[in-house]
This record gives sequence, C-alpha cells and structure tokens, in this order.
Amino acid sequence: MKKTLLLAALLGTSVFAADGAALFKKCAACHGINGEKHALGKSKVINKMAPEEIETALNGYKEGTYGGSMKALMKGQIASYDAEQIKAVAEYIGAK
Ligand code: HEC
Repeated sequence: MKKTLLLAALLGTSVFAADGAALFKKCAACHGINGEKHALGKSKVINKMAPEEIETALNGYKEGTYGGSMKALMKGQIASYDAEQIKAVAEYIGAK
C-alpha cells in the first residue's frame, strides 16, 4: 500500500504536472538562464514581468495578437506549448 502511494506521488509530479524549469530550458538561450536579458536586444527583461503578464504575452504570441517586430520568432518558440505549459513556464519566470 505504501509503495503504491509513493509510486503514484512520483508519477504525479514527473508525468502529469508541467515542469516550468524544464519548459524554460530552450528559452534561456535568448532570454538568459534567469530570464534577465533583453532577448536578441529586443524583448523586455521577462523576469521583471508578472506571471499574468508573461502568460498573456505568450498566449498572444501563439494567437498572433501580441508582440513587436520579432513576434513571428516567439510564435515559433511557443507554438508547441499548451495552455497548462504556458502557465507553468510563466509562473516559473515570474517567480525569478
Ligand atoms: C531565438 C531567441 C528566443 C527564444 C529561444 C525565446 N525567445 Fe522569447 N523573445 C525573443 C524576442 C526577440 C522577443 C521580442 C519579440 C517581439 O518583437 O515581440 C521575445 C519576447 C518574449 C516575451 C515578451 C517580452 C516582451 O518584450 O513583451 C516573453 C514573455 C518571452 N519572449 C518568453 C519566452 C519563453 C517562455 C521562451 C521559451 C519557450 C522564449 N521566450 C524563447 C527571443 C526568444
């Protein structure tokens, strides 16, 4: 019984919950390991944005309703993330 519960707990965190840190890995190349850079000299410093602002921006890039001259680049970055993953990565950056 104990073992079953432990296994469920492990699976619950590793398989089902979107992991903000893992989802942010590919973003760090441009935004900095802590989201502290102006990506390609263009973006805001995203770790200074609130999680809700980041989520709105990312959903906007996905839908083509947000962004500046390089929004097409960000659309490509976020295209494969679903709503839950966008929320998780936004909360991860926002907590930096
Ligand atoms: C190839 C470089 C690159 C990668 C990788 C990248 N970004 Fe960006 N990001 C940019 C650029 C450039 C902008 C500004 C785009 C524009 O003109 O709106 C931007 C903008 C943003 C913004 C909005 C900031 C603002 O200025 O309003 C957020 C939030 C963001 N990126 C998050 C992410 C996340 C999360 C990931 C990973 C899933 C990611 N980015 C991956 C280059 C990148």
